[in-house]
Amino acid sequence: MSASDNPTSAAAASGRGPRCIWLTGLSGAGKSTIAQSLEQQLRARGLHTCLLDGDLLRLGLSRDLGFTQADRAENIRRTAEVAKLMRDAGLIVLVALISPLRLERQRARELFAQGEFCEVFVDTPLAECERRDPKGLYAKARRGELKNFTGIDSAYEAPLNPELHLQTDGTDALALAQQIAARLLVVG
Ligand code: ADX
Repeated sequence: MSASDNPTSAAAASGRGPRCIWLTGLSGAGKSTIAQSLEQQLRARGLHTCLLDGDLLRLGLSRDLGFTQADRAENIRRTAEVAKLMRDAGLIVLVALISPLRLERQRARELFAQGEFCEVFVDTPLAECERRDPKGLYAKARRGELKNFTGIDSAYEAPLNPELHLQTDGTDALALAQQIAARLLVVG
């Protein structure tokens, strides 16, 4: 199939469609897993992608940063700037960051042209994230051993108008990623 057979994919590849898919949500909501699955689906369609994941970025690009409001703002700013560079290099960029505050997500959005930035709210309730607790961090935060933990003693502002609101309840990551692809890129 040539790009012209699929106008929406063609638009995505040429810069007229979504170019930065920004997943926001609590720790343990499933952002990274969904983003990985989405990346596989897009690559299988011949699209060139780059995944910027908070947990990994904090091992390198943002390893000097912690979880105060100021450090998170800087983490998000850096990630958004890298996303823009990757976008300019012709990639579809997937970002998976808690990015807890509306203002910071808005600033990221402003780096992109109209229609390029797609905010996806990975809406897994706090109680479910805490039940999963894959890294034991919620338990630590509840014991007071970890300060400024999002959802416990640090704010999470849910998006008011995301391009896509994913209610994850019981749906697996593959199906959720398909929802994003279908809705934003009209593939899958
Ligand atoms: S953000 O707020 O700056 O966007 P980011 O997505 O990079 O956060 O990192 C979140 C990850 O860092 C979590 O999934 C978790 O593994 C880890 N983490 C460690 N401390 C905290 C904390 N205080 N609050 C939230 N996440 C934390």
